[in-house]
Amino acid sequence: MGAKNIVIAIDGFSSCGKSTVAKALAKKLNYVFVDSGAMYRAVTLYFLRNQIALDDDQAIAEALEHIHIDFIPNTDKTQILLNNEDVSDAIRTMEISEQVSEVSAVKAVRTAMVKQQQQLGKKRNIVMDGRDIGTTVFPKADLKIFMTASPQIRAERRYAELTAKGENVTMEEVRENLAHRDHIDSTRVESPLRQAEDAIVLDNSDLNQEQQLLYVEQLIQERLAP
Ligand code: DC
Repeated sequence: MGAKNIVIAIDGFSSCGKSTVAKALAKKLNYVFVDSGAMYRAVTLYFLRNQIALDDDQAIAEALEHIHIDFIPNTDKTQILLNNEDVSDAIRTMEISEQVSEVSAVKAVRTAMVKQQQQLGKKRNIVMDGRDIGTTVFPKADLKIFMTASPQIRAERRYAELTAKGENVTMEEVRENLAHRDHIDSTRVESPLRQAEDAIVLDNSDLNQEQQLLYVEQLIQERLAP
């Protein structure tokens, strides 16, 4: 009792394998894993379904009041609920990927999501992945990791992921989508993707999942051991 809860922030570009490392780490440490990108994806799904225009501030503000996002932790596939509906698969389509960067650049959307993310990290030990976790959401996180990988490797991983789920996409479409998201995510006005000064860079282009996990565990040993 009384010990401060631990926050591990993992940021980086799209399709760098952040969630995979974050999830494995959370499982190993028995922390709660929070995929903040899934939250922006759920908002995007809601906006698409309800035809919320991104220049309609009033409609956005009202919509945000009706959006309630929950995570069901510790299942093998982390479930995300949008107003009690399981949208875990619905938020992973190319259609959502094509719109999510624009939606997540909207100031009111970010304010609402950051608030929820900060709440999630208040009482429990968590591993959260995203773009601005170490810079804006938890600037005092206990450990910050900035993940990166070569654009070609990222596109290959994403393509394999989408086609395995039966999505009909070409490698070129995936490559373009990643470049487009990188550009918007890192140039937007509201908390753009950037490496926190005290973040440790993990380039996983040539590392498998086990090696990445081992690397992060070593960092935790060095930095967080009592
Ligand atoms: O991690 P992901 O690819 O599922 O994230 C989807 C989008 O959400 C990404 O293109 C940018 C946005 N995002 C963000 O702006 N801030 C975060 N903390 C997480 C994601």
